[in-house]
Amino acid sequence: MKKWQVGVVGYGFISGKGHVPAFLKREDVEIVAIADICEKRREIAKQTLPNAKIYSTYQELIQNEPNLEILDIATPPCDHAEIAIAGLKAGLHVLCEKPLATSTQEAKTMIETAKLSQRVLFPCHNYKHAPVVKTIQEAIDSAKLGEITSVTLQTFRNTHAKGVKEWKTDWRREFRYSGGGIGMDHGSHSFYLTFAWLKSLPININARAVTLNQEWDTEDNLTVSLEFPNKKFAHAYLSWTAGMRKVCYTVQGTKGAISVNDDEAELSIGFPNTGSHAGTNDYSVKKFTIESDWMDASHTKWFNSMFDLFLKAIDENDYVNKEILESYACVEVIEKSYLSSKEQGLNLTLETNLKV
Ligand SMILES: NC(=O)c1ccc[n+]([C@@H]2O[C@H](COP(=O)([O-])OP(=O)(O)OC[C@H]3O[C@@H](n4cnc5c(N)ncnc54)[C@H](O)[C@@H]3O)[C@@H](O)[C@H]2O)c1
Repeated sequence: MKKWQVGVVGYGFISGKGHVPAFLKREDVEIVAIADICEKRREIAKQTLPNAKIYSTYQELIQNEPNLEILDIATPPCDHAEIAIAGLKAGLHVLCEKPLATSTQEAKTMIETAKLSQRVLFPCHNYKHAPVVKTIQEAIDSAKLGEITSVTLQTFRNTHAKGVKEWKTDWRREFRYSGGGIGMDHGSHSFYLTFAWLKSLPININARAVTLNQEWDTEDNLTVSLEFPNKKFAHAYLSWTAGMRKVCYTVQGTKGAISVNDDEAELSIGFPNTGSHAGTNDYSVKKFTIESDWMDASHTKWFNSMFDLFLKAIDENDYVNKEILESYACVEVIEKSYLSSKEQGLNLTLETNLKV
């Protein structure tokens, strides 16, 4: 069996607890090298992966590993573009953590470089691979819900996610590393799900960003309204000050709806007869639980389903794939959220359909 030769840049929380444990379960991957700028993280990487070469910069890793095929980027967002572009130019396929980049300008250059280098650039849009999210997608695709007209996505957190303690654990709140607050950190997950559920890209946006904890220069709450073609819409609310950790998603269709509260799902088909004439004969409500490990922030169990899609894109030479174009659209939504908020929630046009 072919073993993909993989190099990982950034050995922090998501690679240490998510990507690397998932790679170690695969027979078709060999982790040949790790690069991390933090000495303590390099020591931990050496203990976990005694056979891998350990480097202190991504440049050394790329230069010294001529047999490398895949570069997996798991650093903070401020460096994604530089590392990805170097990897693509060196002939590597690149898997990149979300958000793809901190600006549309960077994201566009990354995608153009993938096209020119004829190498796959692919984002870690792992929430699509959560079992309960797959169930939502199946309900939508089965047409049971009719035409989907609107969706809501609420992401509640009681704090920003922390990076490993050996480096800068609060980098998510520092603009120079993160490029933004909860919108930049978590927004991609909500936005690519709206694209999948409404089967299109949004055309208009308005948003409000709020920073309750003034200690930091990034927002901790964000509300975004997205308008899609044919008057469909999505509302997303993201909070780092919610006093709880959970996701609540709802998908409304012309024949029914599905709602999800972490692992708990409720599928309604038809409409209840409430004594008026509003009900339908086929009305049913099904409540069920789908274990999805939401409390494990590494989401390691979702990784390999996503990685298989990345390998499929490589197999099909799909350099500028649908997922990477969606990650560009996520970056534009985040960027314009901040712009809209600065202008008191001004409605802005989106040009999410990138042509490269
Ligand atoms: N998809 C998901 O569900 C998910 C979950 C968590 C994190 N992430 C993403 O993963 C990325 C990393 O987040 P994290 O929580 O693992 O952060 P972290 O702080 O735990 O780890 C970052 C690591 O990168 C290293 N590093 C920083 N700059 C570097 C550089 N230029 N070159 C090499 N190493 C560098 C640090 O020393 C650290 O070890 C972010 O983009 C984040 O958004 C995604």
